Amino acid sequence: MATTLKINGKQHQVDLPDDVPLLWVLRDEVGLTGTKFGCGVAACGACTVHIDGEAVRSCQVALSDVWGDVTTIEGLGSPDALATIQQAWIEHQVAQCGYCQSGQIMQAATLLAENPDPSDADIDEAMQGNLCRCGTYPLIRAAIHDAASKLKEA
Ligand code: FES
Ligand code: FES
Repeated sequence: MATTLKINGKQHQVDLPDDVPLLWVLRDEVGLTGTKFGCGVAACGACTVHIDGEAVRSCQVALSDVWGDVTTIEGLGSPDALATIQQAWIEHQVAQCGYCQSGQIMQAATLLAENPDPSDADIDEAMQGNLCRCGTYPLIRAAIHDAASKLKEA
């Protein structure tokens, strides 16, 4: 049965089995490959997207369980109008191999929406489920602090 999903502000008709993970809908059906497959078992955070603003592991959400509007890294900002958090990521040159980074940014965006002035400890706690094998954690912290101060000024 076809399901309608709103992804990055656009409606998509998806005709796939109910139990297909949202991650595969995004990557294979809709062509949004910014969201990455890492572990498939909610252990790495590479597949993090937002549903109604909440950070979720898209490898663990079945198509039939998607409860709201989906935002992926492609919908957070655009190349011409990056989100503040994306700009901070570039300014701090956070990414190394880059594989984990869209998930990191999506997780960080929800942290800042919930806590506009996070401490290092708040950041470590919020980001603990997003693994980076390149070890970019200090740069992630710096970029989140920077985005927080820019958002306060805005
Ligand atoms: S791929 Fe979903 S948490 Fe690792
Ligand atoms: S930048 Fe390589 S895994 Fe995080």
